[in-house]
Amino acid sequence: MPKITVDGQSIEAKDRQMILQAVLDAGGDLPHYCYHPGLSIPASCRICLVEVEGIPKLVPSCQTPIRDGMVVHSKSTKAVANQKQVMEYLLVNHPLDCAVCDQAGECHLQDYSYQYGRSQSRFEEDKAKKPKKDVGNHIILYNDRCIMCTRCVRFTREVSGTSELYVDGRGHKEEIDIFPGQPLNNKLSGNVADICPVGALLDKDFLFKQRVWFLKNTPSISPADAGGENIYLAHNEGKVYRIKPRFNADVNQWWISDDTRYSYHALSDERRLTVATKRHLGAPAAAQFAHAVTAAVAGLKAAVTERGQGTLYAVLSPMLSCEDAHLLGTYIRSLDPLATLVLGPVPTGQTETFKNSLTGKQTFAIQAEKVPNRKGIERILTLLGGPTATFADLTAGSLKVSAGWVTGGYLTNWVTPDTKLPQGFTVIQDTLVTRLSDSADVVLPAPFWAEKDGCWENHAGKIQAFAAAVPPPDNAVQEAQVFWHLLGHPGMFNATAYRQSLPDPFPATASPTANEAKPVPAFEFAEL
Ligand code: SF4
Ligand code: FES
Repeated sequence: MPKITVDGQSIEAKDRQMILQAVLDAGGDLPHYCYHPGLSIPASCRICLVEVEGIPKLVPSCQTPIRDGMVVHSKSTKAVANQKQVMEYLLVNHPLDCAVCDQAGECHLQDYSYQYGRSQSRFEEDKAKKPKKDVGNHIILYNDRCIMCTRCVRFTREVSGTSELYVDGRGHKEEIDIFPGQPLNNKLSGNVADICPVGALLDKDFLFKQRVWFLKNTPSISPADAGGENIYLAHNEGKVYRIKPRFNADVNQWWISDDTRYSYHALSDERRLTVATKRHLGAPAAAQFAHAVTAAVAGLKAAVTERGQGTLYAVLSPMLSCEDAHLLGTYIRSLDPLATLVLGPVPTGQTETFKNSLTGKQTFAIQAEKVPNRKGIERILTLLGGPTATFADLTAGSLKVSAGWVTGGYLTNWVTPDTKLPQGFTVIQDTLVTRLSDSADVVLPAPFWAEKDGCWENHAGKIQAFAAAVPPPDNAVQEAQVFWHLLGHPGMFNATAYRQSLPDPFPATASPTANEAKPVPAFEFAEL
């Protein structure tokens, strides 16, 4: 492995790596704007120039490959003078509007201005003023904040392959723009706001909602499809405000789809189930969560007593975590060893692929399956063994079952006009009000993925853990917590410990993340 020395520190680098990336990989930092590890390297912003011993002029660290034994100086008089000059030049036309800019707190221009900028401007002329532009459904462009790094243009050419953005004009009249009649509406469009190093491209969805320094980031997984994109849920005081990509070289690299980015809106859906109910004199009546669970258990037990084994079923939603699903299956089989386990509906669209428009190489894919854990639930069904059926069998009425526990957790209403559950006793544990919850015998509010711990298996068989970022609404209790109690286990359900207790390969590939939310409150289980 080649070694280089940067500002007196020895760093191990990879063969043919650029100086800047070697420094970043080693945990260091060099100022940079136009460089992004997922894009081509134009070396146009010039702030990353460094001195290399043996080379008479400054070189761009983002575009200069390392050599074994190379000695690099980024804090020498020459290098620092360049950084200051570049900063002064970039700030000539940049508005001083940090106080009202959404990027403040995570802006590279602001950060480097503190480190390398002049405290006073020598520019006395009028700053160039450029108009704001609405460039797409999700993105707004504050053109006078742009530093022409061209990351956004390269993204639309090299990752989304849609090429909506381009550089218009020359010199100080240069502007980012969209081609006429071609707005930035591709399904990866939100990523341009992530990679814009300043507050020029902003996500309308997040605009003026929160100052970023109030936000905490909890690592999580996308619920939008089977891709398993790695994300951060950014939240404050129990509310999620945005979703950002989390780098994973094997899954989504630096990018996420817009479906993933805006999936958190489901958490505040006005159809959210927040009240447990049980039937009283033929009509649903609000009940304490524990009393509703008691009624659910009583109804299922009565059905088994009346009709014998094989009368129960459970619908394991592909939105459930593997832990939720395993505990639900285990519990239903503890009441009825011949209970039928059913994988819930799997809504499917088209697989959408994106290609680099210059090389034709595939860069990203949005999976056709619009649920995150079909594979994980199938793995659980195999693990549990025993009778299983498809959801189509269940709704067609071809199964001899008459009492069941149905889970949902989908981001939108999943119940279609054809969804007809078997006649008999029904428990619905779901996140949104649906036609099924309106007619169920017992309804239990459930949390969304952002409100609980667990793991999902993506389309490629990768099992990935996610952690609760925010607490669930009052009265919503994680599915696994309910079955944990019903199976007689004491205390709080712990997803990581439970996952590790399952047979391989569950613990082998899951990577648990920290739970930053308050634990889901246990509920008092009333004795039957
Ligand atoms: S809009 Fe942002 S990403 Fe695009 S060129 Fe300007 S500064 Fe760079
Ligand atoms: S980051 Fe190297 S020139 Fe822009």
